[in-house]
Amino acid sequence: MIKKLRKAVLPVAGLGTRFLPATKATAKEMLPVVDKPLIQYAVEEARAAGIEQFCMVTGRGKTALVEHFDVAFELEATLRDRAKSDALAALHGAQSEPGSIVTVRQQVPLGLGHAIWCARAFIGDDPFAILLPDDLVLADKPCLAQLADAYYETGGNVVAVTEVPHEQTNRYGILKVGSDDGRLVEVTGLVEKPDPKDAPSNLSIIGRYILLPKVIEYLALMERGAGNEVQLTDAMARLIGEQPFHGLRYEGRRFDCGDKVGFLEAQIAFALKRPDLADAVHAFLKNYV
Ligand code: UTP
Repeated sequence: MIKKLRKAVLPVAGLGTRFLPATKATAKEMLPVVDKPLIQYAVEEARAAGIEQFCMVTGRGKTALVEHFDVAFELEATLRDRAKSDALAALHGAQSEPGSIVTVRQQVPLGLGHAIWCARAFIGDDPFAILLPDDLVLADKPCLAQLADAYYETGGNVVAVTEVPHEQTNRYGILKVGSDDGRLVEVTGLVEKPDPKDAPSNLSIIGRYILLPKVIEYLALMERGAGNEVQLTDAMARLIGEQPFHGLRYEGRRFDCGDKVGFLEAQIAFALKRPDLADAVHAFLKNYV
């Protein structure tokens, strides 16, 4: 029986070194694209895929991420007094069901795999999604909902994948591919950040996963991989052959918002999708190209 997907883990304990000094006292995941922080895009995308329970894996200086989803009582009362209904409406997506967000602390950022292992009590025996908030996907159907469809089709582990330039394979988790119907690919191997000359393909994992809980057993081995970090990719690789494992070529465009250029591109792409901003942004862009 395929268990319903209800849980998501949001690892947000990284140091965000590529965005210093902005991330000195603020979490990278609080950086806004247009007017919404990255973390809220991730939570809204997860909700659209049926996720009801969230676990943020946090560290020092990350409290704003949790507070963002609280009721801002004084702010809301003030906005009501001033009849600022648009501003009140803007707060809507930043509110969560009471009790639906829990946090665990990673304490030391030993890598993405270690961050996921920190959520082990939350995960229990259930399938779970992982969303890395710094990967933003602009899509008609939200990326995690596409991935959830693939999970219900296959009943196994599924990761969202995209093609990257061959010379960039050393930045990503890369797939070794078995059968491939153009949408779903069978994963026969996984390598974290391979040198382009050793890369088995140029299909890379982006920050959206749906995994079965068994991966926690392999993460618990705490084996260090690329960059001397506990790599999620290495633990996932051990599942291959034991459980179904697929990559989904999702529909949509991914922006790597952990990278300065990707982040700037996301601002433009998301602003151009906004009816209230598109014309103005379009007009000023002409001054720069
Ligand atoms: P990144 O590789 O983007 O690292 O992590 P980072 O620390 O956030 O940023 P840079 O590279 O120093 O600029 C991918 C995701 O995994 C989380 C991050 O918060 C981010 O969402 N992460 C990474 C953890 O939660 N813990 C870790 O130990 C490492």
